[in-house]
Amino acid sequence: MGSEDTGTEPTPGHPRPTRRGLLGALGAGLAGAAIGGAGSAAVVSASFDTGNQGSARGVVPFHGTHQAGIITPAQDRLHFAAFNMLPNVGREGLIKLLRDWTEAAALLTAGKPVGAGAAPENALLPPDDTGEALGLGAGHLTITFGLGRTLFVPADETTGEDPYGIRHRLPAAFEPLPSFAFDLLDATQSGGDLCVQACADDPQIAVHAIRNLSRIAAGRAHLAWSQLGFGRTASTSREQDTPRNLFGFKDGTANVMAQDTRALNRDIWVGSEAPGWMQGGSYLVARKIQMTIETWDRASLGEQERIIGRTKIEGGPLSGGTEFEAPDFSAERGGAPAIDVEAHVRLAHPENNGGVQMLRRGYNYVDGSNGLGQLGAGLFFICFQKTPETFVTVQRSLKPDLLNEYIRHIASGLWAIPGGIRQGEFVAQALFD
Ligand code: HEM
Repeated sequence: MGSEDTGTEPTPGHPRPTRRGLLGALGAGLAGAAIGGAGSAAVVSASFDTGNQGSARGVVPFHGTHQAGIITPAQDRLHFAAFNMLPNVGREGLIKLLRDWTEAAALLTAGKPVGAGAAPENALLPPDDTGEALGLGAGHLTITFGLGRTLFVPADETTGEDPYGIRHRLPAAFEPLPSFAFDLLDATQSGGDLCVQACADDPQIAVHAIRNLSRIAAGRAHLAWSQLGFGRTASTSREQDTPRNLFGFKDGTANVMAQDTRALNRDIWVGSEAPGWMQGGSYLVARKIQMTIETWDRASLGEQERIIGRTKIEGGPLSGGTEFEAPDFSAERGGAPAIDVEAHVRLAHPENNGGVQMLRRGYNYVDGSNGLGQLGAGLFFICFQKTPETFVTVQRSLKPDLLNEYIRHIASGLWAIPGGIRQGEFVAQALFD
């Protein structure tokens, strides 16, 4: 995978380059060929070789320096799953599972069925592939694998157990998340020895991926819980429009993007300070955050904007300017701070967190409704960072957040995301060398 340094990293207050600007920079010949031949995704690939950008055929490369599904332009659909190992599988069983998963993921992300496909020669056998994604193509499917801390150290740390022989390779940074104010976590939807994030343009493609990986895991790991997401709540490339969350606000404006090479290397990718198998990797935090949308919908527009610290329609900071204008936290209106001292964006901003940044890649969800006529709606928040400490810092800063009246964190997980997978290797292979 090539260098990602495009020299176009935005500075605070400087809007991102427009698509037209990028095309101009590429030169008419190249841009024309890209548009004529392969569509807009190819323009992205041509301008930023980030390794996992995707192509017009809807195939995002599976192999590379980093796992796909992190800086890949966020797709619209998610199926996220957590797995727990079954007893007595042991080190060789875990290695075989990771090998089988890697092989299947390489096929799935290329839009191909797993194993011998959906129609075995012997009709007396069940098909290897369950079949529901036949004809749908690759749909920019990415499959991102993560390892939970419980794979290294059993939940009861005092036992000294080490079923996979990797306890001594636990990275120093891989500490469990602490409890946070207002946590109401459901243990049955939290944690897991392994996680798989499947993102795609089509929900059936993402579900097919998790279903088939779950099937392949049979006898070795079982699906502990899973979550569907239906609309991205972040942009991870400057080529994407900013989407909206279920509070109706633009979400992902001030995110770390695929083109922000310096920020990625400083805050998102694990570097040479970590063991080899984690280099080029990251840490994934998932938080299922229920949103009391019925209460939110009764708050006035002015109050909603005060809580977030940005305008609802344009997404500009309340200190003034359009969406990508940097917020000015010292600005005043009528003698009071233009951006409330307890507004979400002020508390979450790097300025309030020792400069740390995370790459947010969450999804909206609705899990039906309850008998009181309320939707089980919220944000399946996902973020990637070089160290879990980044999430801890920002989440602690959010303790006085005005948003807390309208949200509840109801599930949580943290996984180490190993570095990218090279051709012929399986995910986290270097962990077992
Ligand atoms: C349901 C819960 C949440 C909602 C509705 C929400 C919504 C938003 C919105 C609308 C923005 C402004 C647009 C943008 O820059 O993306 C924002 C910014 C941000 N949020 Fe959240 N958010 C939620 C939870 C969280 C959590 C749990 C964290 C991390 C612990 C977080 C971290 C951030 C960060 C870092 C920013 C960018 C701040 C900046 O640099 O200006 N958010 N969020």
